[in-house]
Amino acid sequence: MAWSPQSWRAKPIRQVPEYPDQAVLSSVEAQLRTYPPLVFAGEARNLMGALGEVAQGKAFLLQGGDCAESFAEFSANNIRDTFCVFLSMATVLTFAAEVPVVKVGRIAGQFAKPRSDDNETVEGVTLPSYRGDIVNGEEFTAGARVPDPGRMLRAYFQAASTANLVRAFATGGYADLRRARYWYRDDYHHPDLLQRYLQLVARIEEGVGFLRNFSLADAVAARTSQVDFYFSHEALLLPYEEALTRQDSITGQWYDTSAHMIWIGDRTRQVDGAHVEYCRGINNPIGLKCGPGMGEDDLVRLTQVLNPDNRPGRLTLIARFGADQVGEKLPRLIRAVKRSGANVVWSCDPMHGNTIKSAAGIKTRQFDRVLKELKAFFEVHRAEGTHAGGVHLEMTGQNVTECTGGAQEITDVNLLDRYETRCDPRLNASQALELAFLLADKLSAERGKGAAMAASA
Ligand code: PEP
Ligand code: CO
Repeated sequence: MAWSPQSWRAKPIRQVPEYPDQAVLSSVEAQLRTYPPLVFAGEARNLMGALGEVAQGKAFLLQGGDCAESFAEFSANNIRDTFCVFLSMATVLTFAAEVPVVKVGRIAGQFAKPRSDDNETVEGVTLPSYRGDIVNGEEFTAGARVPDPGRMLRAYFQAASTANLVRAFATGGYADLRRARYWYRDDYHHPDLLQRYLQLVARIEEGVGFLRNFSLADAVAARTSQVDFYFSHEALLLPYEEALTRQDSITGQWYDTSAHMIWIGDRTRQVDGAHVEYCRGINNPIGLKCGPGMGEDDLVRLTQVLNPDNRPGRLTLIARFGADQVGEKLPRLIRAVKRSGANVVWSCDPMHGNTIKSAAGIKTRQFDRVLKELKAFFEVHRAEGTHAGGVHLEMTGQNVTECTGGAQEITDVNLLDRYETRCDPRLNASQALELAFLLADKLSAERGKGAAMAASA
């Protein structure tokens, strides 16, 4: 069947906002179609190449960021802090586990949210659910909850501005490895964690300083003074994605230029549905969330539809089963994919299967459960002889108290101290760094080097 940027419109679709005025929607789409792309197709191809290395077991994917970006929390400091979390985690992974890290942010476009219910009822009043700032407002009033197409334009400009700053940080000196000691920034940091990080950084500084003093100086400086950083989001709001779908001037192929990588959520992955139809025709790297309801046959069929040429790096399967289910569900899917011969990256989202309500009714995740799912993910891959290729996290550089546990021992009682998320609870900078040290141990073990490197770091 022929694909076009709008062929998804003929397919069954879920999670659609009810825009009251189709004419306004069409005029916003027309406007977006005239706007410049946010990324260049060649960059998406570079990411595909990097993910191809992950598929072959030679690199590791670190993907993460906010559950949902918002208009209200749009600021340089927030962007910087999220970027810093990536840098500190990547520092640990690269130097303690000696694995190249492919860095992909849930940033510069992660606005649209799928919801379990179309409506929300509070004290007898029922209103449409909040679907992310690109669709409607979070405030529980009838006016705020009406989907407004104009929000897509605002999201586009915020994404452009965010991407601009991240690119500047990535290449303009902020990400120079000689600055690594400043990347773990948490006013509420844990002293042991800080010490562990600074010990690792001291070794890096010594090594980089040493190499930069010799004839390799230029080559080393080029490799250590900047980073590659990519943008991703869930391809949920298809009118927005379609409007930013462009034909690459070099290859003539279609790309979604709203981000380097996009993913299909667990609620919209029906093989004959609109979201899969849209994603199959664009040439960006694609992620596919795999929750407990994913069957082996479904998954194999989806890998064929989404990656018919079996290109390594094209498809990342993001397992999000929950700590209790991963051990049972994941091996069957890995075996089915292996039998089919599909090239994929396996990544672990240890967040979305572990969301609970605290005693006080606040949405949270226990850090121990997050780590438990991650460890189980590594164990399963070790048993199956496959590469545990990546993680997909909800995290922030802000010092929030949204997930319980971790070195700071956040409890149910502390949750409201700094609970700021727009949607799901995120790891804070310290929890993310602690998780990176655990990952480094697991990756070292996978590479047969034992935990020695990371433990001595
Ligand atoms: C998300 O990544 O924020 C999300 C909604 O995930 P999932 O589709 O896996 O539930
Ligand atoms: Co989420």
